[in-house]
Amino acid sequence: MSNPPSDTAIVNEVGLRDGLQNQPVPVDTDTKARIAGLLVEAGVRYLEPVSFVSPKAVPQMADAAALTERLPRRDDLHYTALVPNLKGYQLARDAGYATVALVLSTTDTFNQRNLNMSLEQAAASCESILQAAREDGVATRTYVSGAFACPYDGPVPVALTQSLAERMFAAGSDEVAIADTIGGGNPRQMKDIMGPLVRDFGAERFYVHLHDTRGLAAAMAWEAADLGVRRFDASLGGLGGCPFAPGATGNMATEDLVYLLESVGLKTGIEIEGLREAIALAAEATERPLGGRILSWMASQEKQGKTACLW
Ligand code: COA
Ligand code: ZN
Repeated sequence: MSNPPSDTAIVNEVGLRDGLQNQPVPVDTDTKARIAGLLVEAGVRYLEPVSFVSPKAVPQMADAAALTERLPRRDDLHYTALVPNLKGYQLARDAGYATVALVLSTTDTFNQRNLNMSLEQAAASCESILQAAREDGVATRTYVSGAFACPYDGPVPVALTQSLAERMFAAGSDEVAIADTIGGGNPRQMKDIMGPLVRDFGAERFYVHLHDTRGLAAAMAWEAADLGVRRFDASLGGLGGCPFAPGATGNMATEDLVYLLESVGLKTGIEIEGLREAIALAAEATERPLGGRILSWMASQEKQGKTACLW
């Protein structure tokens, strides 16, 4: 783990995992591999393409090992697999992942629904995975999920999120991702949570994971960037969200995040234009419209016969 230069930001593409896991239309392994290839062509270098979870809980991730075999292979690509428990960790390690993402939600209810564990059990499970990963030389990122609001219990105290992040660092997590899993947070909370954490642990150890459900993801991303955070998750076209919750728009769209970061001078290495093909394929495969705000604007410019000049 090294700090990117101060004018560079890392955009970790989580669409194939977080974006697809809730989609009711099954997407086949070949299509997922093609989407990964197109993302890499567009300049994406960090991807979380799979989770090793129970196929009964998340059928869309049942091909995790098969997809892993089909992903683009290059020295400059950084892949992460999400693991919910020790079994998932072992599967990810055996599939060759050098980095795994662990999940710890902020409330008993959320951990119970997601992992069938209490908060304490989930924290202890993460500690065992972190120990195993350290012994195996596998890098770790622990998601504090529902860091701003819990889908079941409502707003989450700042101190709770901070204490879980601290506990995971103490247990050996290389990085911690602060995740607004349901898009229920706001920029002030971001500042209150991240300010002290960045001061105590250094910005380079944090990821921020945002969902744009209520339209505040860009404001929150900027707040984090202003505090020095340079690592963000996003999902192509805003893919994600629960299909049974109308208006839930899923992860912050990769193209909108790239636009935000590049507009303030942070280089991502990702071409927004280049993402279009991957987004179109994902939209076709999931049978739902996709695309962030910047794509709508580019399309409207083109409709008027203008070249969309981004910068
Ligand atoms: N990958 C694949 N299979 C797994 C697994 C994993 N990581 N962990 C457990 N299983 C299997 C067990 O082998 C067992 O299989 P069997 O019924 O054929 O014997 C079965 O799942 C039940 O195992 P158990 O340990 O009792 O799990 P559980 O029923 O308590 O479920 C999880 C716990 C974590 C496996 C499940 O809740 C899950 O996969 N959650 C992930 C949810 C998710 O992806 N959320 C979004 C990302 S944060
Ligand atoms: Zn998410």
